[in-house]
Amino acid sequence: MQALYRVALLPGDGIGPEVIAEAVKVLKAVESANGVTFRFQTGLIGGSAVDATATPLPAETVAICNNSQAILLGAVGGPKWDSVRPEVRPEQGLLQIRKRLGLYVNLRPVKVLDSLANYSAIKPVYVKGTDLIIVRELLGGIYFGNPRGIFSKNGERMGVNTEVYREHEIERVAHRAFQLARMRRRKVTSVDKANVLETSRLWREVVTRIGRSYPDVELQHLYVDNCAMQLIDRPTRFDVILTSNMFGDILSDEAAMVAGSIGFLPSASLGEHSALYEPIHGSAPDIAGRNKANPTAAILSAALMMRYSFRMESAAEAVEKAVEKVLKRGAHTAEIAGRGRPTSTSKMGDLIATEVAKILKSKNSKKK
Ligand code: IPM
Ligand code: MG
Repeated sequence: MQALYRVALLPGDGIGPEVIAEAVKVLKAVESANGVTFRFQTGLIGGSAVDATATPLPAETVAICNNSQAILLGAVGGPKWDSVRPEVRPEQGLLQIRKRLGLYVNLRPVKVLDSLANYSAIKPVYVKGTDLIIVRELLGGIYFGNPRGIFSKNGERMGVNTEVYREHEIERVAHRAFQLARMRRRKVTSVDKANVLETSRLWREVVTRIGRSYPDVELQHLYVDNCAMQLIDRPTRFDVILTSNMFGDILSDEAAMVAGSIGFLPSASLGEHSALYEPIHGSAPDIAGRNKANPTAAILSAALMMRYSFRMESAAEAVEKAVEKVLKRGAHTAEIAGRGRPTSTSKMGDLIATEVAKILKSKNSKKK
């Protein structure tokens, strides 16, 4: 029987729908080359869901996600919804789906392809060879802690957010980081602010304890400010970076600039039973609908989906290789095209899908 995989598509806002369409193109190339079937179901999330249903995460979308083995998401948000009530901001859709599905770990690989080293914001000699992965805790910390709100006291308003980490939340994400390091260069850098914050002191203590069960993995602790500096100064020194929700959010955007463009970086958010894949870039409303966006991050997110959710390692590798090949040939979307002629979103998807089909076909014929 042909393998069948159920995938929820949540294109979202801005450039989300355009880049997801290209990722689907690539998945279809895998379908016909490998004889598997992806069954897609599309749901609303974010601002487009607010417009249609007055909520950023409609119950129907949650049902579609629950009925799928993996979720591929585009992006949420945009200036159009900047002044809506905080409970129905588009970002709430994303935060809620992470919570509802128990997606407690977020993997953000940052690999600088040789052909892109010149596009980095940093000199190529420093960034060449960078291959790191940020393991970001996704369900705790200041994003979800209570109390939170804007309160009035003594005739003045005050904004309050609370950073909370429970031991088990640190333990489970730390295990993931150490396990991942075992499949890589066996080095974990845990990032915190233990010189100031209690949550960070607990974080450091728990990570150190969990690390003892992985004696073959080297563990180092860094303060977040120092890490921010070293990411620019010497990004090649990092293998696995383990950190909290907020620090991971910030460091991953920084690391994206090391890689040249945020348009290349995929992510995977994993729980025990569910998984969501999305580009780390946002909805880029300024270029939405103009066939200008870089679909690579969405396409590489689909590759992560095949790797982590469907155990289709050779298809995942084929997609990654195809991206590299197409870039090497000089196909560049507008944000890195410079004076060259930019490749459109849909053309980029076509080129990568064609290359994937070619690579898989030659792999399959070798097997026979
Ligand atoms: C990210 C984004 C989200 C986050 C926003 C859109 C809620 O910045 O995935 O990095 O802060 O987690
Ligand atoms: Mg972010």
